[in-house]
Amino acid sequence: MAFTGQLAVITGGGSGMGQAWTRQLAKEGATVAILDVNSEGMAETASGFDTVHRFEVDITDSDAVAGAFKTIESSLGPIERVINAAAIMPFGRLVDEDPRVTNKVMSVNYGGLANVATAALPPMLERGYGDFISFSSMTGIIPGLLMGAYASSKAAVQHYSEILYHENRDSGLRFCCVCPPAVATPLWRQAEATVVPKLPAKGETLTPDEVIAEVERCLESGRPFAYPGKQTKFGVMMRRLFPGLVWKASHEAEGF
Ligand SMILES: NC(=O)c1ccc[n+]([C@@H]2O[C@H](COP(=O)([O-])OP(=O)(O)OC[C@H]3O[C@@H](n4cnc5c(N)ncnc54)[C@H](O)[C@@H]3O)[C@@H](O)[C@H]2O)c1
Repeated sequence: MAFTGQLAVITGGGSGMGQAWTRQLAKEGATVAILDVNSEGMAETASGFDTVHRFEVDITDSDAVAGAFKTIESSLGPIERVINAAAIMPFGRLVDEDPRVTNKVMSVNYGGLANVATAALPPMLERGYGDFISFSSMTGIIPGLLMGAYASSKAAVQHYSEILYHENRDSGLRFCCVCPPAVATPLWRQAEATVVPKLPAKGETLTPDEVIAEVERCLESGRPFAYPGKQTKFGVMMRRLFPGLVWKASHEAEGF
């Protein structure tokens, strides 16, 4: 069943794609609950809308996530769509990276998804309808130098999402895992604060609206994966057929 625009929950709703999608759905008349650690960003997202409800929740805290979903269902009604957009993206050479940072990337980007899925899905599966969207990345398919922690977390998101889809393919829910290339959002500031890999920076950069439109098409067509952007589909094919060439391009771009 298609999204009827009643109630969506969006993690990472305080910035970037989560913010853009929240405001788009709210403009279309939906009620949206947003979860983020960025209270200033959430206030910006909600400004002008009394149908956007803010929850300051760290998605790595499974109890807090479960509590927030219970509160949302009991106070705002049945959740029809869940969008997992929260993530972090520090970059760097793996051996130079503080292992606490490497582990935190996995715990937010992958662990957060698992916390949300287990909190959100049981009542949705019982009702037999709704959308569940997870954000992987082109880097989850095409690993490259200097993005080890982030790319590994996004590969984990892909496997998790694919298995989740297959385990629930007869449930009536729609699942989509989106794998965008670079998108113009504040996330890149975290890379700029660490190191910016040259190869993805050379490729196409999409707008949040282009990514959102591709996810809507993915949900309508019943495909479990969305690959927004022309270069993404080409990159996926190159990685499958010629992984050595893709690594060569990464080494050449970074110069080591
Ligand atoms: N921007 C890109 O180039 C790009 C490319 C491919 C995939 N993605 C993915 O798209 C999604 C959205 O990214 P974006 O570019 O909009 O990022 P963004 O940085 O603009 O927004 C991410 C939000 O997640 C929140 N967040 C971080 N850790 C959190 C935590 N522990 N608990 C709750 N909230 C937390 C941040 O506060 C922020 O508001 C992410 O999953 C990202 O990995 C982004």
